[in-house]
Amino acid sequence: MTIAAAKRRILIFDTTLRDGEQAPGASMKPEQKIVIARQLARLGVDIIEPGFPVSSPGEFQAIQQISRELQNVEICGFARCVKADIDSAVAATQDAARRRLHLFISSSQIHLDFQLRKTQDQVIEMLRGMVSYGKQFVDQIEFSPMDASRSSEEFLFRVVEAAIEEGATIINIPDTMGYALPEEFGPLFTRVREGVRGGDKVIYSTHCHNDLGLAVANSLAAIRHGVTQVEVSVNGVGERAGNCSLEELVMAIETRGDSMGVETGISTEHIYETSRLVSRTMHFPIAFNKPIVGRNAFQHESGIHQDGLLKNRNTYEIMDPEAMGIPRSMIILGKHSGRHAIKHRVAEYGIKLGDSEMEDLYNRFKAKADEQKIITDDVLMQLVGESTDSIVQ
Ligand code: KIV
Ligand code: ZN
Repeated sequence: MTIAAAKRRILIFDTTLRDGEQAPGASMKPEQKIVIARQLARLGVDIIEPGFPVSSPGEFQAIQQISRELQNVEICGFARCVKADIDSAVAATQDAARRRLHLFISSSQIHLDFQLRKTQDQVIEMLRGMVSYGKQFVDQIEFSPMDASRSSEEFLFRVVEAAIEEGATIINIPDTMGYALPEEFGPLFTRVREGVRGGDKVIYSTHCHNDLGLAVANSLAAIRHGVTQVEVSVNGVGERAGNCSLEELVMAIETRGDSMGVETGISTEHIYETSRLVSRTMHFPIAFNKPIVGRNAFQHESGIHQDGLLKNRNTYEIMDPEAMGIPRSMIILGKHSGRHAIKHRVAEYGIKLGDSEMEDLYNRFKAKADEQKIITDDVLMQLVGESTDSIVQ
């Protein structure tokens, strides 16, 4: 008898309402954020970062209400290494059943020189002061060295070591600018864990941006190197090209997680409705070809593919769309469709056609498909009506 090895559980930290909302034009009203937070809890994310409490009174209230209402999910208060931010984040998340404080400060030289205008020693002093200040109020402190992937490793190690010494329990290494490559980003986690004093005592997290389209690949590389928390957003919304997409990462793990020995706690059947809710609320349309949730992600136009699918769905589908709550994959009918697919669709309406009726329908279908790109079911039924007077039900 073979006993399957237990899989490592990857925590899904959702930042749709914080980093996602930082996408230009994505800003939401407090009541809209609350609706999305409820849906994220239904989806089964482990941690919600509902916003940036110090940024406005409305934001503070939304985070406060989310903390009070959603008692089955951990809430994260986001703050710069600044006392006022920490006070606000601590107060806004006060009533959460479980909470953490997320503190960040830049570690790359370019950010130190041009944004913070601080020396390395000053940055270390600031973060030490603020991590220990936050620790008085909240046990779980997540610390992020911003722009970590473009920082000198020597300074990055110093920063992480200082945060751990002051009580940080979770180290989140972000690829803030989406600059890293998977083969360099993954091993960085192993080096930090082994090279930093106390590095083996904390939980590791990653937070990848998608500027080069590598956010999911970099997150998977980090998982391979021991990361147990990944920060994501629904539909991959976020600053610039966005964050690691929740649905892509989760489905990569669902589909290929066996080879990595990992799993998530996401209820995948809620993925589609969550994606639609976020898209509608932010007024951000989803690209047709977006993996998992895009309109075409499970559509098959080519006759060869349609034929294969009708014989066995696994020929051209690696995931079951219904497992993500996506209405059963509709075969798109168009000029590439073959007789088999047309006949199958017609049969789904309980209509059986004789050979000559089918041939007639096929010819008129092809002529129509040359005129318009997609043949909807309505148009198909019209063609069926024109092709035959003798439909056998
Ligand atoms: O992209 C980033 O570095 C961030 C951090 C503050 C986690 O959003
Ligand atoms: Zn970010």
